[in-house]
Amino acid sequence: MTSAKIGVVTVSDRASRGEYEDLGGPAIADYLKEVLTSTWQSVPRVISDDQSLIESTLKELCDDEGCCLVVTTGGTGPARRDVTPEATEAVSEKMMHGFGELMRKVSLEKVPTAILSRQTACIRGKSLIVNLPGKPKAISECLDAVFPAIPYCIDLIEGPRLTTNESRFVAFRPKGA
Ligand code: MTE
Repeated sequence: MTSAKIGVVTVSDRASRGEYEDLGGPAIADYLKEVLTSTWQSVPRVISDDQSLIESTLKELCDDEGCCLVVTTGGTGPARRDVTPEATEAVSEKMMHGFGELMRKVSLEKVPTAILSRQTACIRGKSLIVNLPGKPKAISECLDAVFPAIPYCIDLIEGPRLTTNESRFVAFRPKGA
């Protein structure tokens, strides 16, 4: 079985300069380790909040590395340097607005500042790109909400068949899919 590649992109000026440890990228990789039972490998990147760099990194992971899924963390808020959603939209072929809507809805049950995240998702070729906020605890809060729909989304864009640890949650696929 070929191993699915999953891009894990930490977008943070300070983490990219080594001023603090990248906690978000490893938290995403740990989440995927816990949830996925099909073979996969992480393609990690830690980059600054620079829109053209985010765009070129997303393109590289989708087009050259062939990642079926790219998860970003950070840069989704209202601050001047927060441009991850703009970069995601710039490389998008189809916006997937439901992801951001659902992640904000569940996050609001945890924290009132959830509305400050402009996190979104899109399809580029055979890749799904999903933005998460920069706080490490936001990672499982957001992914628990949207991950059940991710394996079927990746089926629909002709990616590898992802399977999940059903004691964690059951990935939803319509009957016969
Ligand atoms: N969503 C969840 N689930 N948990 C959180 O702690 N933090 C919020 C929001 N969404 C948060 C969350 C805060 S405080 C901000 S400023 C925005 O995400 C944007 O964060 P970012 O710029 O680090 O991406």
